[in-house]
Amino acid sequence: MKQDMIVILDLGSTENTTLARQIRDLGVYSEIHPHDITPEGLKSLPNVKGVILNGGKNRVVDGTAVEIDPVLYECGFPMLAVDHPTARCDRRMETLPEEADLKEFVLNVCGAQANWNMKNFIEDQVELVRKQVGDKKVLLALSGGVDSSVVAALLIRAIGQQLVCVHVNHGLMRKDESESVIEVFKNQLHANLVYVDATDRFLDKLAGVADPEAKRKIIGSEFIRVFEEEARKLEGIDFLGQGTIYPDIIESGTKTAKMVKSHHNVGGLPEDLKFELVEPLKQLFKDEVRSCGVELGLPEAMVYRQPFPGPGLGVRCLGAITRERLSAVRESDAILREEFRKAGLDRKVWQYFTVVPDFKSVGVKNNARSFDYLVIIRAINTVDAMSATIERVDWDVLQRITDRILAEVDHVNRVCYDMSPKPPATIEFE
Ligand code: XMP
Repeated sequence: MKQDMIVILDLGSTENTTLARQIRDLGVYSEIHPHDITPEGLKSLPNVKGVILNGGKNRVVDGTAVEIDPVLYECGFPMLAVDHPTARCDRRMETLPEEADLKEFVLNVCGAQANWNMKNFIEDQVELVRKQVGDKKVLLALSGGVDSSVVAALLIRAIGQQLVCVHVNHGLMRKDESESVIEVFKNQLHANLVYVDATDRFLDKLAGVADPEAKRKIIGSEFIRVFEEEARKLEGIDFLGQGTIYPDIIESGTKTAKMVKSHHNVGGLPEDLKFELVEPLKQLFKDEVRSCGVELGLPEAMVYRQPFPGPGLGVRCLGAITRERLSAVRESDAILREEFRKAGLDRKVWQYFTVVPDFKSVGVKNNARSFDYLVIIRAINTVDAMSATIERVDWDVLQRITDRILAEVDHVNRVCYDMSPKPPATIEFE
């Protein structure tokens, strides 16, 4: 293994991720583990150079103090206690350590090498995945989103044709999205890729369904059904690859570091399809996942793309989805993205998309009355998607986008810009 590691034991702190980032900023790899890790578990982690017990206000949970197994103190690692007065450590801090104190502990007391970088991370994960998987096969749902794309690229490097990627096109993808998944993964990286065009199946199921939550449920459960059907066709799969990343792990303060997404995703598959998980990105923050993708040679457009909801354009083609309006959403979204890229807004604005409601308005076209749909443009900035403000897009850019949508997109005679912050609006319309 290439990298030294500092282990943070979560004893109820809400600042574990901040601490992990501080250590990584020093160039040293750091992982957060639950407080009830066993001494054997701790010793089995590779290249551990030191341990930080990170206490906090949640130290007492349900009347029980969160403590570690006393044997951990005897494991021989340098230990630092943060905000945990009863821990038997030679060094302690009342709050998160200042940079200089942390540097002293990590680099001098623990003697950790500042050798954390993406190249080493990838090499280590490749080695770990090969060890975990052996000569068995891994199945991966490759949506084309950042996390699944990066995990696919990493697993291809580690196990090549033992990885089977399944890309389900639910017909609600953005323009050319499935094509680019095929181009990058099949043609360039030579992945073992199964492409399933399930457009008709999804759109048939969604026909006439107007309720947003009912639409989401249909898309979600149909996706699992299609994926499951493909999984059953394949022989000898033992593992399921997942693009779980650090923010998917919640800090609960007791049985810490619980995998929310894993449970959620795997929970959707039937009992007899039992897989062991392979999650090589689960210790990475989003920006690190992107760097990892770039290091693995993925195109920047794939690695730096904006968030895109699982139900795809389905929640942007408002009300009951029709092919006509779905096409208007897809084409107008492609124009918006192209013009934002040209104006340099694609890296600046957090999320931007178009929406087509399910009503028409009156207009004039070629000197005659028209009765057509409208396109709403939305562009927002946010830190955590819990609240959001709108982007004040330059008027000329908006004008150009409007002109192109009106000229190039069928069945559209009007374009609006959504001025609403979140709250009271949400980012998506449904
Ligand atoms: P809202 O509309 O709740 O969106 O303000 C917050 C963020 O979540 C995304 N979003 C979804 N992502 N499945 C997803 O994977 C969904 O059903 C879903 N709904 C909203 C949305 O794009 C925004 O980034």
